[in-house]
Amino acid sequence: MSRSVRLVPTVTACALALVLTACGGTGGVHGTAGSAGVADPYFPQAGNGGYDVTHYALTLAYTPGTSTPLTGTATITARATRNLSAYDLDLKGMQVNSLTVDGKKTSWTRAGQELKVRPPSTVPQGKTFRTTVRYSGTPETITDPDGSEEGWLRTADGALALGEPTGSMAWFPGNDHPSDKATYDITITVPKGLQAVSNGELRTETTTRAGRTTYMWRTTHPMATYLATVAIGHYDITRTSTKNGLPVYVAVDPQEAAASREVLAEIPEIMEWEEYNFGPYPFSSTGAIVDRRGDAGYALETQTRPFFPGAPDTATLVHELAHQWYGDSVTPKTWRDMWLNEGFATYAEWLWSEDHGGDTAQQSFDALYKGTYFADRSDDEAIWSFPPARPTSAAHISDSPVYERGAMVLHKIRRTVGDARFYDIIQGWAATHRYGNANTADFTAYVEKMAPGKDFSGIWKDWLYGEGKPARP
Ligand code: TRP
Ligand code: ZN
Repeated sequence: MSRSVRLVPTVTACALALVLTACGGTGGVHGTAGSAGVADPYFPQAGNGGYDVTHYALTLAYTPGTSTPLTGTATITARATRNLSAYDLDLKGMQVNSLTVDGKKTSWTRAGQELKVRPPSTVPQGKTFRTTVRYSGTPETITDPDGSEEGWLRTADGALALGEPTGSMAWFPGNDHPSDKATYDITITVPKGLQAVSNGELRTETTTRAGRTTYMWRTTHPMATYLATVAIGHYDITRTSTKNGLPVYVAVDPQEAAASREVLAEIPEIMEWEEYNFGPYPFSSTGAIVDRRGDAGYALETQTRPFFPGAPDTATLVHELAHQWYGDSVTPKTWRDMWLNEGFATYAEWLWSEDHGGDTAQQSFDALYKGTYFADRSDDEAIWSFPPARPTSAAHISDSPVYERGAMVLHKIRRTVGDARFYDIIQGWAATHRYGNANTADFTAYVEKMAPGKDFSGIWKDWLYGEGKPARP
């Protein structure tokens, strides 16, 4: 639904296409090949140029313990952003069994994570077209540049799909980059006795003749690929709602149920506090997934249904729910803008603490500046190792300069403009870019527009883009 980040100039695309296929289309329309990436500074191969996905319809069947545990059909509706003679989807592993474009049998080739599609005729610019991919196999677990695991993760009684930053390509073909958001229908069939949870709202739950269960989930608001999830296993399901009627769907591994009960009961109260501070909630349901997965030792803000690797604490719940505004609704244009996610979600934790009798945001800021914030002294040093808006490499996009120093940037803005204007800014930011994408330059321009006459140049220079520890707090 969003634009691709940067279009490769036609000449370059054409030269590239000459190497890969042959430049020029068939059927009368001159076309060029879409690029095999959207020039993300940290994940250059992620995503693809030449089209914009509007909807994914994923129909999956998962049967753990068999030789072909996952079979899937992905129908991808997209609009061509140029006359498109060929294009790529991202898919890592899995076997592709058949592929059609607008119902016509189509050939493809595979090269690493690129699934290269050569449609029977050039897709004219502006046309909406559908690619249907049938695939099967054992989906892969992907190891990130920072060593964490994502993609398809096996659990004791099922599996989890977690996508940040490039894990969605392990379980469905698509445009795996945050800049291309789309709506989703995710249908999952699992063996009798297992449950399947995903994003958005559960539309139907039906038992097949073979005694299996099919869960149909629907996401009607734009979602980035990294925020798509499925969780398969045994869960205790709780369905409640917030005071203003928002459905809350919580799925918890029975082994984590007792430890999770009290904290998850805080979801409605946290949602109300976040709506008061961040503005209207952008989606049509909320909730959580709690499952045991030892080596995915992180939480993730999967859209409408954040994932927790065990019973969360309140701060983590506040953090992942804050991402629904900052990250999920307003999504970074590239992975370089990660601090816009993590700085905001971390600052939400500080604000929650301040409003609930804990440390004030100023105290958190001061402790970080003094080097007494973390239990481990080396973490207090690491926060100055690179500026929030310029992580040193893909291996560092989830380090403390992005999280805590990102939050410090927001605190500096708050001190410059005062509380009333600060809340106008963070609510306005969420409203202005609702369901879209934004980058750091968009953010600094927005802050400046919202506070005329204030000088932010020192904050940008020293705190956002500057190397090392700023001379003054
Ligand atoms: N975004 C997650 C959070 O809210 C952390 C995370 C999980 C992450 N996987 C990641 C960050 C991969 C960067 C890359 O804290
Ligand atoms: Zn986060």
